Amino acid sequence: MAEIRLKNVSKRWHNFVGVDNFNLTIHDREFLVLLGPSGCGKTTTMRMIAGLEDISDGEIWLGDRLVNKLEPKDRDISMVFQSYGLYPNMSVYENIRFPLRVRRVPKEQHHEKVMQAAKMVELLDFLDRRPAALSGGQRQRVALGRAIVRQPNVFLMDEPLSNLDAKLRVSTRAQIKHLQHTLQVTTIYVTHDQIEAMTLADRVVVMNKGIVQQVGTPTEIYDNPANTFVASFIGSPAMNLVPGELRDGTFLADGISIPSLPRDTSGPVTLGFRAEDASLVSEGGQFRADVYSMELLGEATMASFRIGEQLVSIKSDKSYRAEIGQRVHAVIPSSACHLFDARTGTRVSQPHKS
Ligand SMILES: Nc1ncnc2c1ncn2[C@@H]1O[C@H](COP(=O)(O)OP(=O)(O)OP(=O)(O)O)[C@@H](O)[C@H]1O
Ligand SMILES: [Mg+2]
Repeated sequence: MAEIRLKNVSKRWHNFVGVDNFNLTIHDREFLVLLGPSGCGKTTTMRMIAGLEDISDGEIWLGDRLVNKLEPKDRDISMVFQSYGLYPNMSVYENIRFPLRVRRVPKEQHHEKVMQAAKMVELLDFLDRRPAALSGGQRQRVALGRAIVRQPNVFLMDEPLSNLDAKLRVSTRAQIKHLQHTLQVTTIYVTHDQIEAMTLADRVVVMNKGIVQQVGTPTEIYDNPANTFVASFIGSPAMNLVPGELRDGTFLADGISIPSLPRDTSGPVTLGFRAEDASLVSEGGQFRADVYSMELLGEATMASFRIGEQLVSIKSDKSYRAEIGQRVHAVIPSSACHLFDARTGTRVSQPHKS
């Protein structure tokens, strides 16, 4: 049983708060992703769980054990570091074998376990090489192989794909997902790449400046962001956010007028809608503006507009064409609209289905 519970966990260095009051239960065998911009406290959270960093406040539980004071080696956790941390003087085989030696796993089991792990990460052809003679992606797989060789209770992976090129990231990502599914080990995975988070996670924790912003499944976070930070961090492009005014259930901003919105709030608000939820039309609709730029994405066309300070994107059919500067209209259904507090950025209404 490898449930992990963090209760009011904080990390401070003097006056600086790296992680602020983190509360979460990570379920047995869950794939949890910590997502947030650089410096938001992802690695620190991970290091506290691994026992590599003392916690300033709170409790960390692994199953029914309070592990605050437990040495890293007694926590039965494997960590893949942001930089792979391979031993340069050891072969791939010995690198993968290393955790077995440290943990005094009986010698006669080593060969079989190393070969099994190496097979899973597709390194059987490279066992005699030193890390220096491997590509970035192969080194990454050695680090993974070393993490899985002894089947721990928990995997911690800190940006394991950060040094790979785009294509390799996609294939290694699929491999990690498959491995986790096969091994059924509770996994916490750190990334600042929202696509990686969305594709891998059972649940995502979005962090900013040491504070958890939202915890939810990828769908929940995409469809129902708790605030403008999450809305602007998830999705490619991110959710359009337009400041304006809500009056009698109608949202008003330059070139935008959307009726049939909730009437329980009024005054300054931020409107959110996703590029794919609006559609370009030749006239009418709730939105009109001049095309600022057009991007052909292959499977679709993305038109963008300047509304005040904001750039707004609307996705269209791949055959859609318009000139830069051309006036176009768009339909933005009220059911696709999210409203956020203009000052705090907190959601003030659920998208309502009409
Ligand atoms: N030993 C330390 N002393 C003081 N501040 C620290 C220390 N370690 C980390 N920090 C600060 O804590 C904050 C969180 O750092 P952390 O490494 O957890 O960020 P991160 O989310 O992993 O970022 P990245 O995506 O860049 O790896 C940062 O502002 C960092 O400067
Ligand atoms: Mg980090």
